[in-house]
Amino acid sequence: MLLIDTGFDPARIARNETLFHTANGYLGVRACLEEGVPPHVPTIRSTLINAFYDEKPIAYAEKMKGFPETQQGIVNVVDCQSIRLSLGEERFTPFEGTLHAFTRILDMEAGTAQREMEWESPAGNRIRIVITRMVSFEVRELFVIRYQVESLNYQGPICFASFLDGNVTNSADPDDPRVASETMRHLIIDEAWGDEESSWIACHTTLSGLSMATRVSHHAEGFSSAFLAGDGATETVFTREIEPGQTTVLVKYCVYTDERRHKNPLVDGKAILREVLARPLEGLFEAQRAYLANYWKNARVVIDGDDKLQRSLDFSVFSLLQSVGKDAVSNISAKGLSGEGYEGHYFWDTEIYSFPFFLLTNLAIAKNLLRYRYFILDAARRHARLLGHTKGALYPWRTIAGPECSGYFPSGSAQYHINGDIAHAFLQYYRATNDLDLMAQMGAEVLVETARLWMDAGHFLDGVFHINGVTGPDEYTCLVNNNCYTNLIAQENLRGAVEIMELLDAEGKAEPVVKKLGFQAEELIAFRHAADVMYIPYDEKRGIHAQDDSFLQKEVMDFLSLPPSEFPLLQHFHPLYLYRHQVCKQADTVLAHYLFGEDIREEVMCRSFDYYEPLTTHDSSLSTCIFSIMAARLGNMNKAMTYFKMSAMLDLEDTQGNTKDGIHTANMGGAYLCVVAGFAGLRILKSGLLLRPRLPREWKGYHFQFFYCGRKIRCEITENQCSLLLLEGVPLTIRVFEQEYWLEETLEIPLDKTVG
Ligand code: BGC
Repeated sequence: MLLIDTGFDPARIARNETLFHTANGYLGVRACLEEGVPPHVPTIRSTLINAFYDEKPIAYAEKMKGFPETQQGIVNVVDCQSIRLSLGEERFTPFEGTLHAFTRILDMEAGTAQREMEWESPAGNRIRIVITRMVSFEVRELFVIRYQVESLNYQGPICFASFLDGNVTNSADPDDPRVASETMRHLIIDEAWGDEESSWIACHTTLSGLSMATRVSHHAEGFSSAFLAGDGATETVFTREIEPGQTTVLVKYCVYTDERRHKNPLVDGKAILREVLARPLEGLFEAQRAYLANYWKNARVVIDGDDKLQRSLDFSVFSLLQSVGKDAVSNISAKGLSGEGYEGHYFWDTEIYSFPFFLLTNLAIAKNLLRYRYFILDAARRHARLLGHTKGALYPWRTIAGPECSGYFPSGSAQYHINGDIAHAFLQYYRATNDLDLMAQMGAEVLVETARLWMDAGHFLDGVFHINGVTGPDEYTCLVNNNCYTNLIAQENLRGAVEIMELLDAEGKAEPVVKKLGFQAEELIAFRHAADVMYIPYDEKRGIHAQDDSFLQKEVMDFLSLPPSEFPLLQHFHPLYLYRHQVCKQADTVLAHYLFGEDIREEVMCRSFDYYEPLTTHDSSLSTCIFSIMAARLGNMNKAMTYFKMSAMLDLEDTQGNTKDGIHTANMGGAYLCVVAGFAGLRILKSGLLLRPRLPREWKGYHFQFFYCGRKIRCEITENQCSLLLLEGVPLTIRVFEQEYWLEETLEIPLDKTVG
């Protein structure tokens, strides 16, 4: 499982920093060149710790009541990446001399990123360099660089200068709302020093006041060393002689500790580094392999018949693991830990796009993602009050530690659907596990508080429940009444709260939650009633769900006649212009049909798909995967494949032009879902498990496995049949298309009989 890029092209540097980044959900290091780049070459040099943030005031020209005053943003932390290599007086840089070879490799089984080069200096000295990087899944604070140099014809002194630099800033682009608008320095250095064992930088953030430390130790056999420190940086210089045929190695062990996980980052970092140094490096690499072997066993989707898509799917599934936070304070940010885009914020992307993957393949991580939402529930309650709601909780549209960080409410805080998205994830978890204890510990509280919010945000008009003044998933249509997606997900949220509270009651587990929330029995009646009379906008004339009350009355925007340079539209049109037109940034009603399609007539979904498809620009990376899933659901496998390819190749081919700012993590989850929820049609429903397996014409077959209610099931689809294998757990009923099957050990269902 390798991702390989050959050849040296300065224009690809920033993008490759993203694609070849190494991360473990806690720590992420962009794949920047150790030797640096000349000033004219675009690079984004960053190292990120998930959920480690600073704050900055949000400057409004006209600040209204309830607007967030400060914004949290992930911090570019101390830079450990820099290592300068010199052969005598000549310093290695790929920008000078001759590169006879230059290859980057992301090894997704070894969990390493490698750079292999053969370089000839301007004076004719020739060396082979192999640099291997790893961010450890086993020791989450650890980043290692192994820098090997083999001399091919050079005799003389070789020198490594290895740096630790606290003088770092976050990157910015004032013209792109998807990244920070100002370059800022967030770290104040408390100490930059070293002793025989290690060098370190201790620092804290300017406004949030969070401290962190980085400790580095080197292993360089046969070298003599010298140490320098000053101005928030340290430098350790290693020198020795080398001759042709000889290989020398520098290993740099870097440990990052932060206050959100460590009581005393500097002291804890020292202990962690000591433990690491007591082990052989090979042992650390082996542990990484073992961790990943275990991961791939459950996570991999295998495609028979398309190596390119196989690689991209592997990359997606690997990226999800690299991105996902594995403790209660962290989650999956929109760019994972591969870049500073969207400032390290967590969005609904997690619950609707990435969570389903973890729910099916790695329950511990899925559970943790829910735990994070529970952890910020109090902040969501405060947020609700700020927005004028007297009860319930409103999750922030984007956040790190809980407060709303969106500075533009029409496509930020107004996206109330995030409440329903989070509730949906809790309910899916319950349906996929029957874990009522987790519901008692956290799920019920989240479901009831979010349901209460709907009761407060919505209102009854002529006996029908309406939710006005919100924004649905489509960010080109803002502040509307009765967004179809929002109302459907609110309906599920309200019903889910009732269901879980009743289940807890029946099991004698409701009391603590009832007490804590002051929950009244009448609320159950009210939730159920509001859900039952929820207004779902439907257009009789067209026979489709209307995206909201006013969408269909607007003028259709003719964006097809625009040149590609005018996309994404958000960078070229005033928001009001977009809001006034029928134009969608991303799947909205079509997404609602994916989540709630079992209760919707197929013709309505077909007509709606056909209606919204030409209105959708897919300017958001969260879109094509949903169109792929729904095309498959509606039986159009060619279209499903076309959209799947768009989703799968989005970052590898940089089709949105901003991969340099980080991977599109939600789309990574979406690419997985294209196969599992799209082609295989898997749904986790209240009534049980459902599959609608189909095989794309281009493939010979595909298979994957997943967990469901204490079982592990393997699903393989080939030209003629769908084979199900119960790998673990007790037999169960599975619905395949319209028919129910009893899966005892294996089942072979002929596909031609089931399709269509
Ligand atoms: C999308 C949102 C998404 C956000 C972060 C935006 O472009 O429109 O739906 O949550 O990106 O990925």
